[in-house]
Amino acid sequence: MLKRVTLDFIKKQKGSKTPFVAITAYDFTSAKLVDSVGIPLILVGDSAAMVIYGYENTIPVTMEEMLFIVSSVSRGAKQSMVVADMPFLSYQQSVETAILNAGKFIKLAGAHCVKLEGGLEMCPQIKGITNSGIPVIGHIGLTPQSVHKLSGYKVQGKTKANAKKLYQDALSIQAAGAFALVLEGVPEELGQHITANIDIPTIGIGAGKYCDGQIQVYHDLLGLFDTFSPKHAKKYTNLNEQIYDSLMKYKFEVESCQFPD
Ligand code: KIV
Repeated sequence: MLKRVTLDFIKKQKGSKTPFVAITAYDFTSAKLVDSVGIPLILVGDSAAMVIYGYENTIPVTMEEMLFIVSSVSRGAKQSMVVADMPFLSYQQSVETAILNAGKFIKLAGAHCVKLEGGLEMCPQIKGITNSGIPVIGHIGLTPQSVHKLSGYKVQGKTKANAKKLYQDALSIQAAGAFALVLEGVPEELGQHITANIDIPTIGIGAGKYCDGQIQVYHDLLGLFDTFSPKHAKKYTNLNEQIYDSLMKYKFEVESCQFPD
């Protein structure tokens, strides 16, 4: 019997010498692969809006579209913890809406916890969802659902005042009951400062090497998405090129009557 990664396991990663690994996934096959490698945390990110559904940013993706893919990831992940990313307008409006939609991810799609974007202003939602028995991961810094408010995908926390605000947000999110915190697009020193001064594990993406864990987008890491590549992404391979070459070969072999042979 395979052992599922628990909340206690993630909490214990705080301050560990070996950073823990997280990655996004959006379907059964990729979740199975990630799970087989022993990556403890899979985020079904709302980045699906762009890499799966082809929207320009993360704002349009709906609860229905997210529920659909979260359930396929849940079926593929036997050990990893599955985190459902709450899409824009599924939690901002009220605590009640947030609890109801977080509950749908757990009850209907088999996720183990949820993630939502925002600082102090989202603490009532974090508290409400957590009090309903659903673990929550916070997300501050470059929060893509606020792309218009932030005037683009820009590193956050560069000024003293903004860095202080993000640190206060991190403390508030922790106090509201979140069990981990994603830090996206912040200077390394700020990532280090927040990590060293809160008790819950931080998960960095473009936040430097001092976070307790690191997360990357599956499609960025494998070179599957060529529309847009964030600065912090590391391409470990170029599957886009490999898939293109294989498709070209298939097309050629059928058209030249070499396949089936
Ligand atoms: O949606 C997503 O993929 C995310 C990660 C980048 C943290 O929120």
